[in-house]
Amino acid sequence: MLSARSATTVRATLPAVRGAVVEIAGRFYETMFAEHPGLLNLFNRGSRASGEQRKALAGAVVAYAEHLTGTGDVPMRSVVSRIAHKHVSLGIKPEQYTVVGRHLIAAVKEVLGDAVTPEVASAWDEVYWLFAVRLIAAETRAYQRDGIDPHHVSAPWKVVGRTEEAEDAVSLLLAPTFGGVPAHRPGQYVTVTADLGGGVVQARQYTLSRAPGHDTLRITVRRVRGRGDAPDGTVSTFLTRDVRVGDLVGVSRPAGDTVLDTGSGPLVLVSAGIGITPIAALLEHVAAVRPERPVIAVHAEREPGRHALREHVEEHGARLESFRSTVCYQRGDLPPGAVGGRVVPDDIPVPPDATAYLCGPVPFMRDVRTSLLRRGMPAVRIHFEVFGSDLWTTGAEQLPDPALAAAD
Ligand SMILES: Cc1cc2nc3c(=O)[nH]c(=O)nc-3n(C[C@H](O)[C@H](O)[C@H](O)COP(=O)(O)OP(=O)(O)OC[C@H]3O[C@@H](n4cnc5c(N)ncnc54)[C@H](O)[C@@H]3O)c2cc1C
Ligand code: HEM
Repeated sequence: MLSARSATTVRATLPAVRGAVVEIAGRFYETMFAEHPGLLNLFNRGSRASGEQRKALAGAVVAYAEHLTGTGDVPMRSVVSRIAHKHVSLGIKPEQYTVVGRHLIAAVKEVLGDAVTPEVASAWDEVYWLFAVRLIAAETRAYQRDGIDPHHVSAPWKVVGRTEEAEDAVSLLLAPTFGGVPAHRPGQYVTVTADLGGGVVQARQYTLSRAPGHDTLRITVRRVRGRGDAPDGTVSTFLTRDVRVGDLVGVSRPAGDTVLDTGSGPLVLVSAGIGITPIAALLEHVAAVRPERPVIAVHAEREPGRHALREHVEEHGARLESFRSTVCYQRGDLPPGAVGGRVVPDDIPVPPDATAYLCGPVPFMRDVRTSLLRRGMPAVRIHFEVFGSDLWTTGAEQLPDPALAAAD
């Protein structure tokens, strides 16, 4: 708990920090990477350039300060869980929190200047460390539970299969080079580390697109094409274009907390584009272990040629006692049974006691979630996975961003 004295100071300075927090996070990354260039490979170079990274950190810190001072309503338990899962898949170590904390508080002082008295600095340092301790505890528990050495989270796995699933979407089958396939849950992801040459290494998360129980892991990757001035996606291009059967890639233990519940009520699975990957794993698992569980699947795709894992979903859906599937294509020739146009959220059925899983672009998931909530589905039963940093849950999307303002 925040001390009473610090709570008063944090409450009083929250508006100023909130207004400058994205700039503070930007300055933090700059100075940290200048002093620790070795960390450049740990962080996503793409999301640093696009500004997503600084917003994710800024949003989380502000949400935590609001939580500690009783002024916010962000569900911190799920925010902490999501960050901790990602950190564990990247092998973040407790000692690194000292480095991050030092640079973060220095950036607060630099950006806010004289407003940061020793009392203000100490109050925000307390916020940082309360957050850090909570994350370190969750991460240490996970490392111990799974017997993971955080210094060696990534192991070489061999690519033993490669399937072109659809336009710009490739599945890779990965086999361990040591030991077996670790236990995992449907909906989890692995962090894949790609050696891009020239000393550049980059890590990204890819959802396991099959249920547990196979002797290999499968990921299904959509190649991200650059638009306008933005370049092509680094790792997705490498995995879909360059990686061949026989190559080695770094793979972490499976992580992620958007996993199938243990209930027996109906499932509503809603996806868009490559957001089909967790849905494919959930569906396969339900068909194998609880085929009596009713499932409604709704998928949105730009056009039929881009629809990855369609056969997988159809095959496993057919094993269920009750399976209703709707696929909406915005354009192209419609295959039998498909619907033209976008998914209409209010048309998605909401059976009593249903649980929903959503995966796709945030605006799509937001529309679907709003509709499900309006029609009575409780928030705790609506799970979603964001394929990037989650700026939605923390409200980071709305934080003022000086870099964006300058670009306007
Ligand atoms: C939990 C989770 C699960 C995921 N599961 C899957 C999955 O199953 N399948 C899948 O395909 N993906 C999945 N992803 C997404 C995946 O992790 C990557 O984010 C995705 O492949 C893009 O990575 P990249 O390296 O190709 O792109 P990056 O290089 O990271 O680029 C990302 C974006 O930033 C833009 N960008 C880069 N540099 C700049 C710049 N200088 N200026 C402006 N813009 C820039 C790029 O144009 C691109 O649009 C998942 C993500 C998460 C978090
Ligand atoms: C209290 C301290 C910290 C907070 C609040 C924090 C917060 C976050 C958040 C919000 C994300 C994005 C999660 C998402 O995907 O939605 C993230 C990702 C990440 N964090 Fe942390 N973090 C902290 C400490 C650290 C430390 C000590 C390190 C290691 C130096 C670290 C390295 C990373 C990396 C590499 C990512 C992945 C994102 C990327 O590649 O850009 N974090 N963290």
